Amino acid sequence: MAAVVLAAWLQEATRALAAVADQPRMEARRLVEFACGWDPGQQIASPDRTLSPDQCTWLADAMQRRLEDEPLSRILGRREFWGLDLSIAGATLDPRADTETLVELVLDTCAKRAEPPAHILDLGTGSGAILLALLSHYPGATGMGIDQSPETLGVARQNAANLGFAARTEFVLGDWLSGVEGRFDLIVSNPPYIPTEDLLNLARNVREFDDPAALDGGADGLDFYRRTLEEAKSVLSEGGLLALEIGVNQCQSVTEIATGSGWRVIDQRADLAGIPRALVLIAC
Ligand SMILES: C[S@@+](CC[C@H](N)C(=O)[O-])C[C@H]1O[C@@H](n2cnc3c(N)ncnc32)[C@H](O)[C@@H]1O
Repeated sequence: MAAVVLAAWLQEATRALAAVADQPRMEARRLVEFACGWDPGQQIASPDRTLSPDQCTWLADAMQRRLEDEPLSRILGRREFWGLDLSIAGATLDPRADTETLVELVLDTCAKRAEPPAHILDLGTGSGAILLALLSHYPGATGMGIDQSPETLGVARQNAANLGFAARTEFVLGDWLSGVEGRFDLIVSNPPYIPTEDLLNLARNVREFDDPAALDGGADGLDFYRRTLEEAKSVLSEGGLLALEIGVNQCQSVTEIATGSGWRVIDQRADLAGIPRALVLIAC
């Protein structure tokens, strides 16, 4: 096989990736970084490096997957969330930038309180993204992540270990709050909230690469909220907070369910499009 020069590979890959990516040059460089270990600075400084046959084979396979619309994060098995480098694999949800809205809201709400949360529960923890982001801000806090997927819990444990949070975290197989004991100062969740019949209409790169169990919120998307708003008070400490991500158009329905179950919305945050996507509640 003729030697392939980095600059030539980048040029060709960038051109091809423009069909599927918003930032094709950046994605091409990230693939090279993953395959060759050369960071973008090194790639810019030495564009005449050559790629080995093994590197070319891996890159060709990765390009084919990406051009079939597989998300870059799935190909690399990595996603940056709240500045943390997280692994994702198999059934683990690829954490979304939208969920950073929930983290932001929790940090702002908690900053107005006398004490930061000491014990945090994350329902449907996935990669551990929300819990680990919060623990990175609260060095004295511990946290528990619950998920129904053993594979996902393995990924969350690995992420906690990689970030140095293993001793402050516990990841437990479970069905929402069933069997959860103890008291938490803060419960957070980004639950499945997509109405079942909408799953088929999701973009292909979501439909084919995210586990439906991480997305399916039941007939109207609200199953989790009905159940958790009934049960969560029994594991919240006095004055504790419940912080929830919600789907587009769910603010009114979730607020009504919450009010009917004895909760009050004390704070909310919209996404960049101005749509409310995160709520903080307190028991009345
Ligand atoms: C939308 S994903 C959120 C993952 C992660 N918290 C994040 O924000 O990236 C929902 C998560 O809930 C989990 N889940 C679904 N049903 C569950 C149940 N009955 N009990 C516990 N976890 C569940 C899924 O496995 C998935 O990891």
